[in-house]
Amino acid sequence: MKIRAALLEEFARPLVVQELDLADPRPGEVLVRLVACGVCHTDLYTASGVDPSGYAPTVLGHEGAGVVEAVGEGVGDLTLGDHVVTLFSPQCRECIHCRSPRTNLCLAIREQQNKGYLPDGSTRLSRAGEPIRHFMGTSTFAEYAVIPEIALAKVNSEAPLDRACLFACGLSTGLGAAMNTAAVQPGSTCVVFGAGMVGLGAVAGCRLQGAERIICVDLSEQRLELARGQGATECWRADEHTVERVLEATDGFGADYTFEATGLVTVMREAVEAARMGWGLCTVAGVAGKGETLDVVPRLLITGRRVCGSSFGGIKGRDQVPELVELYLRGEIDVDPFISHRMPLEQVNRAFELMEAQDGIRSVLQLSV
Ligand SMILES: NC(=O)c1ccc[n+]([C@@H]2O[C@H](COP(=O)([O-])OP(=O)(O)OC[C@H]3O[C@@H](n4cnc5c(N)ncnc54)[C@H](O)[C@@H]3O)[C@@H](O)[C@H]2O)c1
Ligand SMILES: [Zn+2]
Ligand SMILES: [Zn+2]
Repeated sequence: MKIRAALLEEFARPLVVQELDLADPRPGEVLVRLVACGVCHTDLYTASGVDPSGYAPTVLGHEGAGVVEAVGEGVGDLTLGDHVVTLFSPQCRECIHCRSPRTNLCLAIREQQNKGYLPDGSTRLSRAGEPIRHFMGTSTFAEYAVIPEIALAKVNSEAPLDRACLFACGLSTGLGAAMNTAAVQPGSTCVVFGAGMVGLGAVAGCRLQGAERIICVDLSEQRLELARGQGATECWRADEHTVERVLEATDGFGADYTFEATGLVTVMREAVEAARMGWGLCTVAGVAGKGETLDVVPRLLITGRRVCGSSFGGIKGRDQVPELVELYLRGEIDVDPFISHRMPLEQVNRAFELMEAQDGIRSVLQLSV
């Protein structure tokens, strides 16, 4: 079939919206009519050419939601008309990692996905017979996508898809960092560094876990205001004294849980230093630039602080994304304030410009109704 899609033709050049061919789903694959897609930093990072593992041409986009239009042979869990959220982090339920509760890093299709192929090593996207590679197994800056069944979460069809799409990456990453990776205990003191989509999700996650104090730190007053709306009890403008302030506010000990959601290694270090001696847990969600390293004084670890990373909030997508969407439907997660701009696929480059200008939290592309 012919579809319209936003193609990254060349790094550091605007995406080009054009007509491409999309082949039918093969065994284990699903054709999804995309309804909405958030624009995330990873899309921009790849488009910029700075990501060493990036490739072009490809159709970007990984924060998608839509409706199942056709299923390939052997697809058992999804059927026509199901509402789905795309999963750049799939869940096969069979590999050694999927069978362990300790990680969400499914191994099933990792290699092919990283190279831009569907699990059988080929692509469904093409242009005039020339194969076009997929991106993050999703390629959702498009009207339609063919995606492996294990990379789709079936969600309640009552959830509006233009909100549900945020659970495909940023929001779930933040929520999961607090609810899964750190598993914040009720009554805790938490500090969240960064109030973008991921940090705001972490603030909401800390609130849902019953944290008593949630301190959010960011450079932007506007974003701190949003953090307050998600449950932050204290909002601080970031400066060079943040760690000292955390220690002062906690009788000199530090916070039970800290979260880093900026991607800056200097802030990661602050998050480690602001964690409590004895049992403070620092969860790193930000993605640092290639080659950058985190500088930590080992004494901080000996005296009981722990550091862990969190990819997609440690969430096993097919099982847990639907649960988070249910929390949203029950009114426990306020998603609307995250959607700052809505626009058609044709304006995807404007979404990138808004992101670079830090204008709003998320732009959502409206792909079909
Ligand atoms: N782990 C994952 O699976 C995953 C998924 C999505 C995104 N990410 C990463 O998470 C990070 C955050 O993503 P986002 O979409 O929320 O980004 P964002 O750019 O919207 O938010 C980052 C925030 O950090 C703030 N900030 C900058 N310097 C600061 C400082 N010194 N102290 C405190 N705050 C500071 C900025 O003002 C901004 O509000 C990025 O690195 C992104 O790549 C990770
Ligand atoms: Zn993302
Ligand atoms: Zn798996």
